[in-house]
Amino acid sequence: MDAVIAAKNLNKMFGNLTAVADVSFSVAAGECFGLLGPNGAGKTTTIRMLYGFSPLTSGTLELFGKSIAENLCDIKFRIGICQQDNSLDPDLTVLENLMVFSRYFDLPRQTAADRALKLLAFFGLEHRAAAKTSELSGGMQRRLVVARSLINQPDLLILDEPTTGLDPQSRQQVWTRLEELKRSGLTILLTTHYMDEAARLCDRLVIMDHGKVLVEGKPADLVRRHVGREVLEITRPDQSVRDFLAQRGHEFEDLGHRLLVYDQSCNGLFADLAEQFRDADCLLRMGTLEDVFLRLTGRALRE
Ligand SMILES: Nc1ncnc2c1ncn2[C@@H]1O[C@H](COP(=O)(O)OP(=O)(O)O)[C@@H](O)[C@H]1O
Ligand SMILES: [Mg+2]
Repeated sequence: MDAVIAAKNLNKMFGNLTAVADVSFSVAAGECFGLLGPNGAGKTTTIRMLYGFSPLTSGTLELFGKSIAENLCDIKFRIGICQQDNSLDPDLTVLENLMVFSRYFDLPRQTAADRALKLLAFFGLEHRAAAKTSELSGGMQRRLVVARSLINQPDLLILDEPTTGLDPQSRQQVWTRLEELKRSGLTILLTTHYMDEAARLCDRLVIMDHGKVLVEGKPADLVRRHVGREVLEITRPDQSVRDFLAQRGHEFEDLGHRLLVYDQSCNGLFADLAEQFRDADCLLRMGTLEDVFLRLTGRALRE
């Protein structure tokens, strides 16, 4: 079967700036695929090319087995897009926002109204159908935008940072709904810089930075490959700890006040260390996708 998305060597230049460099990935039907990366990594630019908003500088892109160069109109009817910014009409009600949006897809009015009410119920917004969108909380606005992206019953849902800036309850609710959509067989592509979001939702993902793909894989495999099963955090280490680790050839990251020791070899390192440094302040925890992300993209602040 054709991949839902087949992106090969995508490049995007803005003048002299290379925003996306040779990015390739494919997404199978029913998969949830993540594009992860710090601010400015090129996530939004990549997905804007996918839905035809931004022309490719070079590369090839097929959705549903068809080149977007020739079939953009057909393809657009089959995808739902939730952009990074909400772009709701503040003068219209919640329901009207969905109805106006449905016109892009030539839906009969009654069909649109039925779908809109079902989507509002699905996202817990039915009691606010008559409210102006400007009266909604940030979490509600975001749920409405996700609801809106489903009005054409898409085969592929594209979400650009679906939960950035949301409170914990709203994030959980969005995740639960996305999981339900995934179970129903919808193919999802999302961008995020939240590792817990990616670990929970994505079957596979790429981590990108400065326009390039750094790694691709399943979340658990990436953790195993780049961090190891466990991480030992040593707070306020003295020089003897550093010397010991260096001498033994252990991989660790030195944050000054804290050391992170990785157990990629799983060779019983931690029992050894705990014995050596009984008085040090140690925490043993599972490796996470966040460790992978920070190891690969560094700890320097981004704009
Ligand atoms: N329309 C544009 N014109 C010029 N530069 C842009 C434009 N859109 C994005 N960029 C630049 O491209 C790079 C990638 O941006 P973007 O794709 O928005 O990153 P992300 O979504 O990962 O934060 C950034 O350096 C950004 O400033
Ligand atoms: Mg972005």
